[in-house]
Amino acid sequence: MKRILIKNAMIINEGRTFPGSVLIEGDKIATVSEGSSVPSLEAEVIDASGKWLLPGCIDDQVHFREPGLTHKADIASESRAAVAGGVTSFMDMPNTKPQTTTLEALDWKFARAAETSRANYSFFFGGTNDNLEAIGRLDRSRVPGLKLFLGSSTGNMLIDNKETLERIFSESGMLIAVHAEKEDIIQRNKAHYVQLYGDDLDISFHSKIRSEEACYACSAEAVALAMKTGARLHILHLSTAKETTLLDGDLPLAEKQITGEVCVHHLWFSDDDYARFGNRIKWNPSIKTAADREALREAVNNNKIDIVATDHAPHLPAEKEGSCLKAASGGPLVQHSLVAMLRMAEQGIFTYEKVVEKMAHRPADLFHIDRRGYIRPGYFADLVLIDPTARWTVSKDNILSKCGWSPFEGYTFHHAVWKTFVNGELAYSDGEVQDNVRGRELRFIV
Ligand code: DOR
Repeated sequence: MKRILIKNAMIINEGRTFPGSVLIEGDKIATVSEGSSVPSLEAEVIDASGKWLLPGCIDDQVHFREPGLTHKADIASESRAAVAGGVTSFMDMPNTKPQTTTLEALDWKFARAAETSRANYSFFFGGTNDNLEAIGRLDRSRVPGLKLFLGSSTGNMLIDNKETLERIFSESGMLIAVHAEKEDIIQRNKAHYVQLYGDDLDISFHSKIRSEEACYACSAEAVALAMKTGARLHILHLSTAKETTLLDGDLPLAEKQITGEVCVHHLWFSDDDYARFGNRIKWNPSIKTAADREALREAVNNNKIDIVATDHAPHLPAEKEGSCLKAASGGPLVQHSLVAMLRMAEQGIFTYEKVVEKMAHRPADLFHIDRRGYIRPGYFADLVLIDPTARWTVSKDNILSKCGWSPFEGYTFHHAVWKTFVNGELAYSDGEVQDNVRGRELRFIV
């Protein structure tokens, strides 16, 4: 069995930062040693002096666009970007073409990812107004949960039949991840601004249309429905201070019925940035105020929010053009999420341990992922080595996402991913994706 010894690293794991070494045997972590002692075994040695060793990130919300939207992205291209960014596992969303709302569509994605994904993978199953029967036949050890669009976004998957919604909440017995923006409020706001100013509205109207009220009302309704039915609810991409009041930071994760995710863009940008970035920072839900961003950061720190993810949602530059009513919502992030969070940690917004907790440990715990998300003996060797002294600037020639742009273009990060291991295999090293490596399907303990 192949052995790799990563020695002299600064290990950041389970709330601690300490010097040590990790021995990989095959696809698993064999030993984690603290200090300078290393196991005396024959192994390929990687001297990680001056580098940090983290568990690979697990991103619970990406849109890799395959099948059907592969002019924007595909599983191969975006999983390459993922491993370059230190993301070793991803959970992809169902708004592809066809949508992942049938067992056949789901099986197709698993088969495709087995062929082409460089990172470990799983796929949310989309709940619709009429697929309860298929939901009942899902293998729960293979899917992280159901994704419901309670507000419309890319892909037209709005679920608006109240009765079905209540049945999915009460009968599915699965984790329900929601996109929560209230459609009638969005439509009312849109009509209001179009009537006042016409339909050539610029990006500054986006957060007025997809407003705080639209987010809070929908999230609050989803929480109420979860309480009524006993459903396990996970609210995706929280974007407002007010929604964080719906969450409990004191309960241990295992006891939470309601959990929340925030995405890197909502932690990094605020509506002050619309003038400079335009549609490049147009997302659903919209980027809100600096005060909202502050509250979201606080909610990460006080554990009201459990997971930091990306909502990686590539569109071509041409699709991002036009008025705020026309331009596509979403952007690529998976290559830069970890370094962006490390930069915020360097600025004192989070601790480094908190970044690892929210991007690796908690996603693993929340979804009950089998043996990933931690640097522990017996766990899969999904690992990231970080160069904490690097200075590198995002530019077209180092962006790996197929869409070829990034909201971070021109930004100089202070950390670089040096090497990424997926199941003990070197998937990325020194700027190069190792294209022979394939990830595996995530398994969920049920
Ligand atoms: O901005 C977004 N883009 N938000 C979503 O929820 C969907 C995503 C996409 O698929 O483009």
